[in-house]
Amino acid sequence: MIIGVTDDRLITSSLLMEDEPTEYSLRPRFLSEYIGQKNVKEHMKVYIQAAKLRGEALDHALLYGPPGLGKTTLAAIIANEMGGNLRITSGPAITHAGDLAALLSNLSEGDVLFIDEIHRLNANVEEILYPAMEDFAYDIIIGKGPSARSLRLDLPKFTLVGATTRMGLLTGPLRDRFGIKEQLELYAPEDLQEIVVRSAGILGIDITDDGAYEIASRSRGTPRVANRLLRRVRDFAQVKAGGVIDAETASAGLEMLRIDELGLDAVDRRMLEAMIVKFGGRPVGLDTIAAATGEDASTIEDVYEPYLLQLGFIARTPRGRILLPAAYSHMGYAPPESSVQTSFI
Ligand code: ADE
Repeated sequence: MIIGVTDDRLITSSLLMEDEPTEYSLRPRFLSEYIGQKNVKEHMKVYIQAAKLRGEALDHALLYGPPGLGKTTLAAIIANEMGGNLRITSGPAITHAGDLAALLSNLSEGDVLFIDEIHRLNANVEEILYPAMEDFAYDIIIGKGPSARSLRLDLPKFTLVGATTRMGLLTGPLRDRFGIKEQLELYAPEDLQEIVVRSAGILGIDITDDGAYEIASRSRGTPRVANRLLRRVRDFAQVKAGGVIDAETASAGLEMLRIDELGLDAVDRRMLEAMIVKFGGRPVGLDTIAAATGEDASTIEDVYEPYLLQLGFIARTPRGRILLPAAYSHMGYAPPESSVQTSFI
């Protein structure tokens, strides 16, 4: 069950907040329904089964990877599989130590506390989390100065599931307190195709396998993108193509959305174009790319870069981001010999 305290700003009232209204109903509820992420699924299945056999709470788990790959979904699945409640919050929402105390004291044995963007917790809050994770204890300091005393309160045995898009920004002590660390990777088109077919079934959308593959292969490895594109292509199919999504309709609908055959959108293309034309293929810093595209540096890094890196369109070097030959040919430019060769040096 997902618990929400509706007027509590610390906790979202459900999983509805971050996605379109129907997204929650598309989320798988058990591991057996979860498509893709084979390794993560295999690991979690063993850890969950073992914890259940021992009658213990699952060890704290850190899920990391680009946005939209199913970190929140996995936290909900963990809670379901373990028979506990899920409470959802995020690093930036917990501003004071007292906020975290309120969250922790409302947990029951076996509950899952999900902290999204856990790398954005402030240092004071993070320190309270250490004994909570390690000893299921919460330390209160009573009084001030020499007469101050510390009082230790016991907490129920819960599971913290932390999610981050930036493993590198987590402090060492916090990272070390997670017994389970799983990296979510961009999905293969075949897995996304299966997700699109499943979602279409739930939403009552008529789609062919080829239509689903067309959407999947243009969804930048991300289920959240695939489900969003499915809804938009459904609109297109209803208005322009008699309601059925086949490959041709999907392709026409995605073209209307200006999503190209690799799934690149206007921002990707602006970024690549700027790197080719404005910066002549020279290494460019993240902030410069952000300024040139009008996007936030963290959005470029979290959302756009992972897919462009996977496509082999860009690479990170100590001197900045560089373009690789595949990016030039996709954008219809000839790679300048010198910049491609010297940019690795
Ligand atoms: N919907 C979003 N992500 C999914 C996944 N990994 N498996 C099944 N359905 C999904």
